[in-house]
Amino acid sequence: MLEIKKLSYEIIEDNSKKVILKDININFDNNKIYVITGPNGSGKSTLVKIIMGILKASNGQILFKDKDITSLPINERANLGISFAFQQPITFKGLKVKDLLDISSGKNNSVDQLCDYLSIVGLCAKDYINRPLDNKLSGGELKRIELAMTLSRNSLLNIFDEPEAGIDLWSFEALTKIFNSLKNSCNIIVSHQKKILEIADEIILLKGGKIERIGKLKEILPFIEDNKCLKLRGENE
Ligand SMILES: Nc1ncnc2c1ncn2[C@@H]1O[C@H](COP(=O)(O)OP(=O)(O)OP(=O)(O)O)[C@@H](O)[C@H]1O
Ligand SMILES: [Mg+2]
Repeated sequence: MLEIKKLSYEIIEDNSKKVILKDININFDNNKIYVITGPNGSGKSTLVKIIMGILKASNGQILFKDKDITSLPINERANLGISFAFQQPITFKGLKVKDLLDISSGKNNSVDQLCDYLSIVGLCAKDYINRPLDNKLSGGELKRIELAMTLSRNSLLNIFDEPEAGIDLWSFEALTKIFNSLKNSCNIIVSHQKKILEIADEIILLKGGKIERIGKLKEILPFIEDNKCLKLRGENE
């Protein structure tokens, strides 16, 4: 479904080259959940932003359904069926929650349909559909609305950057149920949470911009537990 080949990302900082991602090779298959984990600053958000086209790789190739999308802009990748939920959701001045869900789902939704999208993420439609998408919404509310927006697109490839962030009081079971229910799609979730790692078909461990390991939880866990800096949130729950 998605192939990443020899991908790297470099920036120039203070007149010197800084390597953020180096020689990344990953194959993502359909009908699977992939979790990308690793310490803060290891390059997880950078990698998923490159897949979506928000950042441009310095080198390497990205194939989506055998088509080379390396130089396609975000909107064309979105049209091919790739969706992205930001680590820090963006607000849209002048838009209401209903407008966003109508745009993302590509139709004019009834209140009942909006209720379906929002109730999945634990929000009551009548309280939210006419709310402006501004910074008066709490961080957790914005995360949930963004999750609802991403799900309403019904995409072939869904990318979620730390979907659990800010949703502290919401049960993880609800969140993991959502991910488990995503059928006929490929899902990439960036997360530090053990309960999210537990639902992964495959885990990609990034460290210092390189792939440290790819495998199942039991194969990856020793590499996380060995390194104090990689300790997972929720490990002692
Ligand atoms: N535009 C930039 N200029 C300088 N450094 C950058 C830039 N973008 C990213 N970086 C650096 O690249 C590294 C990777 O950042 P990235 O946001 O991908 O990390 P992450 O793994 O998502 O971390 P977190 O777990 O904190 O979200 C970090 O060291 C970050 O400071
Ligand atoms: Mg990040």
